[in-house]
Amino acid sequence: MKKGLLTLLVFAVTISCSSGQNEKPTTLKEAYKDYFYIGAAVNTSQYMEQDERAKPILETQFNSITPENDLKWERIHPELDVYDFEGPDKYVEFGVKNNMFIIGHTLVWHSQTPNWVFEDENGNPLTRDALLARMKDHITTIVTRYKGKINGWDVVNEALNEDGSMRESKWYNIIGPDFIEKAFEYAHAADPDAELYYNDYNLYNAAKADGAVRLVKSIQEKGIHVTGIGMQGHYSINGNPKPEEVEASIIKFGELGVVAVTELDVDVLPPAFEYMGAEISMRAELRDELNPYTERMPDSIKQAQINSFVDYFNIYLKHFDKINRVTTWGVTDGDSWKNGWPVSGRTNYALLFDREGNEKEVVNVLMELPSKK
Ligand code: XIL
Repeated sequence: MKKGLLTLLVFAVTISCSSGQNEKPTTLKEAYKDYFYIGAAVNTSQYMEQDERAKPILETQFNSITPENDLKWERIHPELDVYDFEGPDKYVEFGVKNNMFIIGHTLVWHSQTPNWVFEDENGNPLTRDALLARMKDHITTIVTRYKGKINGWDVVNEALNEDGSMRESKWYNIIGPDFIEKAFEYAHAADPDAELYYNDYNLYNAAKADGAVRLVKSIQEKGIHVTGIGMQGHYSINGNPKPEEVEASIIKFGELGVVAVTELDVDVLPPAFEYMGAEISMRAELRDELNPYTERMPDSIKQAQINSFVDYFNIYLKHFDKINRVTTWGVTDGDSWKNGWPVSGRTNYALLFDREGNEKEVVNVLMELPSKK
């Protein structure tokens, strides 16, 4: 080999090794920047920047946010002629200021939606046309207000049963099955550039996943825009669900459009009942044996949780070409809804940062996965 060429080669190898070392990512969003956004659901005090513990975590680790509750119908549109934009405006401002991919959650859902939405002034059920008009007003008002700022919407949330059939919600019963396509139509008309998702839990379940595929396909075939499917991802330790089940659904959904992991958390507590979904009206009583780790999470449980997160993230990395974000449902363990659902008053450890706001060991492990790909 010519001397010049050899020098060049040595030089190139040196450069690539040393820059490789310098580039070892120190935050989640950096580690995954070539693959997908890393998001978190935020509560009011977090986007208001009043939560000193969460603020630096959000600013450094995450590049996407979802509002945990404040854009749900009961909050943003509590009465017929009342929209409350104070919180939502601040939420969007926080995301814009931090250059984040901003999600709107959620426009049409059976939960956290006041009864008046479905009733006339005498308390009688609305007609199909009247409810459609109400839904259109809601969607158009909100999506237009945040046009160009909210980048993606969970347009319809949880419209399917476990067997893939349509849930008999008030939306379904009054309007009929086409309430879903109407919601997408109205959202697209209000902001043609926004990503629009159908979002649900337990989509690793093959029957439910097939239902979601049928649903989204039938809407897309009518020429109505659906960007893709959001898989909530309320999971638990010890392979619940199996990573292969999650993978099979990602592959199915990838054929229709973009896949988003919208609400990831990994519950470490004993299950309160056999039910494995995330239907928020399901509740169970607190019993001591359901709340075993009130002081700290034992090492074996900690390791089981690391393994679960790693298994799921390995699947997400493998299919990064289909996935645009992986969002955890909260910032620190103390914020997580899993401390209060389905049993109130438990101490859960479902997220990536501990109650003091420190990175859990799992964060380091996850940050290393992309370089092992
Ligand atoms: C949860 C919130 O985290 C809780 O604070 C609230 O009390 C109930 O709703 N699926 C969803 C989310 O789509 O909106 C839910 O969020 C969790 C299940």
